[in-house]
Amino acid sequence: MALILGIETSCDETAASVVQDGRLILSNVVASQIALHAQYGGVFPEMASREHVLKIVPVIEQALRDAGLKFQDLTAVAVTNGPGLAGSLLVGVNTAKAIAYANDLPLIGINHLEGHIYANWLEATASALPENPFPLIALIVSGGHSELVLMRGHNDYELIGRTLDDAAGEAFDKVARLVGLGYPGGPAIQQAAVAGNPAAVKLPRAWLRGSYNFSFSGLKTAVLHTVEDLKRQGPLPVADIAASFQAAITDVLIEKTEQAARDFGAKQILLAGGVAANARLRERMVAEADLPVLVPPPKLCIDNGAMIAAAAWWHIRQGEKSGLDLDVVPSLQLPSREKRLAEDGNAKPGT
Ligand code: KG4
Ligand code: ZN
Repeated sequence: MALILGIETSCDETAASVVQDGRLILSNVVASQIALHAQYGGVFPEMASREHVLKIVPVIEQALRDAGLKFQDLTAVAVTNGPGLAGSLLVGVNTAKAIAYANDLPLIGINHLEGHIYANWLEATASALPENPFPLIALIVSGGHSELVLMRGHNDYELIGRTLDDAAGEAFDKVARLVGLGYPGGPAIQQAAVAGNPAAVKLPRAWLRGSYNFSFSGLKTAVLHTVEDLKRQGPLPVADIAASFQAAITDVLIEKTEQAARDFGAKQILLAGGVAANARLRERMVAEADLPVLVPPPKLCIDNGAMIAAAAWWHIRQGEKSGLDLDVVPSLQLPSREKRLAEDGNAKPGT
């Protein structure tokens, strides 16, 4: 039995969790900084690091207490070492090193995006996630990311598409600000959209045919112009704008994910990241895709330590671990398709 402590501090949540064998959550503690950053309309990096410094020890102590465990009972310590804010990542990584060193435990650095994907394995039933769901397509949509990833097995990632400009969550946050809704924008837009008509405002969809990449900056600019026009005409129809924006972004996310799933003969689609908490995206992806779609419960879509411990388990099983010289990598990426093909000798870079 493996008991892994997962630590996550890449952005604005200080989180720690103990997960048994990559699936069973024994504890999951998240100290959110949303209230702190709301006054700035977004994450204020220096404030985030300082808040992590204050919260990290109590959060980890709570995670162990909730699980009824001591450091000595653990099998390994896993920590997000990128991508994310450097100052925030440093707090988690250094704390994880101290715990590993003091208790003679293996340490493993985990890519935050891998964590989001593996949130799907937490407490998933065998029928929802079979032994071999590969190849699968994962759509990771969060405040900093919009990525399509092909997985042919555990720990086997190929980044096939990404955003060329704004991330999906960033678009939700910016549009929410334009129409006077609070931070974070995603939940606020979702709520406002319930009373709106998704066909009320005509907004563009950037299909970028022939690639799996996304672009949301044109959509955001279109909302800006619409808001300026409508403001001149009277009170802003916030619900209609929210519903129309949500429909536009969801249309693109679903269509491109389905296209990738068809092209790569995927057996399963996984959703992940903060935007996967969006009720409309979840409902529509499940209803419209031809394949089984799995999405973690909303509380596991947003940043948490359980997803980091879940991803770590598949590495620990292979005997992988990091050294105590583990560094933070703010721009850490998953392996790209081009890089993979070059490594496999099937293609040369640039061909
Ligand atoms: O994964 P996450 O907690 O942090 C990052 O790794 O970025 O994602 C946060 C993002 C924010 O942009 C937030 O607005 C968005 O996820 N989000 C949502 C919803 N809940 C959170 N977007 C749309 N609908 C939601 N219900
Ligand atoms: Zn995240």
